[in-house]
Amino acid sequence: MEYSISITRREERAVTDTKTVPFGKVPTEHMFIAEYKNGTWSGARIAPFHDIVLSPLALCLHYGQTVFEGMKAFVTDDGKINIFRLDKHYDRFCKSLDRMCMPRVPENLFREAMHQLVSLDGDWIPTEEDGSLYIRPFMIASEGRIGVKVADEYMFMIVCSPAYQYYANPLKVKVETHFVRAAEGGTGAAKCGGNYGGAYFPTQLAREEGFDQILWTDAKNHEFIEESGTMNAMFYIDDTLITPALSGTILDGVTRDSLVGIAKDKGIKVEERAISLKELVAACESGKKVEAFGAGTAAVIAPIESFNIEGKSYNCYTGKDAMMYKLKDWLTEIRKGIVEDTHKWNYIL
Ligand SMILES: Cc1ncc(COP(=O)(O)O)c(C=O)c1O
Repeated sequence: MEYSISITRREERAVTDTKTVPFGKVPTEHMFIAEYKNGTWSGARIAPFHDIVLSPLALCLHYGQTVFEGMKAFVTDDGKINIFRLDKHYDRFCKSLDRMCMPRVPENLFREAMHQLVSLDGDWIPTEEDGSLYIRPFMIASEGRIGVKVADEYMFMIVCSPAYQYYANPLKVKVETHFVRAAEGGTGAAKCGGNYGGAYFPTQLAREEGFDQILWTDAKNHEFIEESGTMNAMFYIDDTLITPALSGTILDGVTRDSLVGIAKDKGIKVEERAISLKELVAACESGKKVEAFGAGTAAVIAPIESFNIEGKSYNCYTGKDAMMYKLKDWLTEIRKGIVEDTHKWNYIL
């Protein structure tokens, strides 16, 4: 089915100098919106960014039936706009929607909406090396009704915001051995709102203790690394890139997947497997160079300078020649169109 998207432009352009604006604070001028009712999507439109009207009974407000994505667009070195890994983000959006009993957005609607919106607000994309346009597609259950039930009505929207470097400094992380983010069979692999709300309290406690982020561990025994905040956890030890396997309790991160692909291209040994705290501690204590970092769309690569397990801190390697910085540069080269996009990850407008 073809979807026609109506476009209402802002009358006066208002591109702001966003360099000093915190991440996610300033939306671009336009947004996309469509409604789902009686089993179909309709009203697909791009309009000036505006507040939405929602019934106080809207099911999303009470029972957390919400799903979102986080993607980025870049300006390539030759001045084109590139939406990075649109297909993989769409696939993950669908998986999250399935898990939350929400209707899928047809692929052509998702693609076309994003294409049109990002083209329209393309001059908001920072061209600096660390600059990008953060794109947030999301769906909420909009049906107004009290009662725990799968909604019959939804809104799908896309908003964008200019983004720069997310973390200014290497992170001090707390390895969480009490609270749990996700357990087997839960919603850990879905990008649904509840996963994030549930993480606030433990993260706040960690911040009060002087840490920047949490490294989650498995729900059963707190023995194995899971992921961190809004990033997958990755390590580079003994010339090997190691990252927890996709077990169903962590997000299938697009950045993780991209870095794994790039590392393999470069002939770097990659292991996707369980990583125990014991293994990490032993590596640090043996004097090996242990690189630890978070990988995610917003932060790209966030170096970890130390991790703390129940009061004891272990230092990680963050020297300039660290592999994580090379991986980040290689990823940037693909996204900026500097090297050939052999994996077909770029969606060039
Ligand atoms: C919980 C969680 N893990 C990992 C990631 C990294 O995923 P991606 O690289 O697709 O942004 C994110 C961010 O989306 C996240 O929210």
